[in-house]
Amino acid sequence: MLKDYFEFQNPVKICAGYKALDNIGVELAELGGKRAMIISDKGVEGAGLLKTVLKAFDETEITVAAVFTDVPSDSSYDTVRETAEIYRAKNCDSLVAVGGGSVIDTAKGANILASLGTDDLAQYAGAGTIKRTLNPFIVVPTTSGTGSEATLVAVIADKKKNQKSLFLSKYLMPNTAIIDPRMTLSLPPIITAATAMDALTHSIEAFTCLGKNPLSDAYATSSIKLIAPNILRVIKNPNDKEGRYNLAVASTMAGVAFSNSMVGLVHTLGHSVGAVCHVHHGIAMNVFLPIVLEYNLPKVSNYVGELLLPLAGADAYSSTAINDRPVKTIDFIRNLKDELYSAVGLPRTLGETGKVSKDKFAEIAKTAIGDASITYNPVEMDYSDALALLEKAF
Ligand SMILES: [Fe+2]
Repeated sequence: MLKDYFEFQNPVKICAGYKALDNIGVELAELGGKRAMIISDKGVEGAGLLKTVLKAFDETEITVAAVFTDVPSDSSYDTVRETAEIYRAKNCDSLVAVGGGSVIDTAKGANILASLGTDDLAQYAGAGTIKRTLNPFIVVPTTSGTGSEATLVAVIADKKKNQKSLFLSKYLMPNTAIIDPRMTLSLPPIITAATAMDALTHSIEAFTCLGKNPLSDAYATSSIKLIAPNILRVIKNPNDKEGRYNLAVASTMAGVAFSNSMVGLVHTLGHSVGAVCHVHHGIAMNVFLPIVLEYNLPKVSNYVGELLLPLAGADAYSSTAINDRPVKTIDFIRNLKDELYSAVGLPRTLGETGKVSKDKFAEIAKTAIGDASITYNPVEMDYSDALALLEKAF
């Protein structure tokens, strides 16, 4: 179908490669940073990754003026405010996020407060509410999944409302993303699997949602082609530098894709089970992905069928009749889920997560109806549809 109009934007400078991190001081100085605040979490610190980052700043003109490692796994308004307070108290002028989605999104939120001189984060929720450039901001991802290093999105939990707030602005895009596979080598296999399924979902939803466009399609399909063969390869051999590098680059590409097309119902449901039952985001993506693709088939079976090529390769694609490709795509994803379950125990259903009980379905469904990402799904969902999907996912 001919699109009336689309926009595509990726202003993030991407520095990728083994030891890419060694140039971080030069990159931050180029942005005008002199006093950096590093934002991270205890897991990253415990894995020794912060040492690598701090060492990279040695003998550069940058002063690391503050290091904050108390970001929880679910970023919240309170953590963002705390981070911004330290930033101000230590006279920082730039931010370096070292971590996964929660750390990066906390840094995005803190950059809003620090740059705009406010403590009221809620007024910047939604789209287009930030009106000017924020302070210099570099991201060093330590997982290969969120893609947040290349997106205009931040998801931050508003714990008072038991909801995840979405922040959308081109000014939230980091200036630079440094993709160094040394930062993901120690990622535990189950987290590797969960975050890779998040990246895969970003690309699949980018390719099938209403905001898709030819440029986001190019990033989405290229990243799927890299993710599909590398998930199990890396899980079987966690020290595989090339496999880690492929997943890391693919995850950033998936971020570029969905930042320019948005996501859909897998994320709607994932945000909701995350907010209500604290299911890990990547695990929720793994649970819902094939179920939502089936739900969306009436509107986008052709797009789902096309995904068989980057997922399964040219031979499987060409030997499958056109009409069979959509179902084969979904079968491929179900088989991948089974293999990940066998390899690392990645939960395939809501029941297997051990965190969701059916008496929570009403609250999850209600939360899902209010989630912004539902707008871009090709098939609409009402409250009773949400309940049926949750039942199927259990
Ligand atoms: Fe995601």
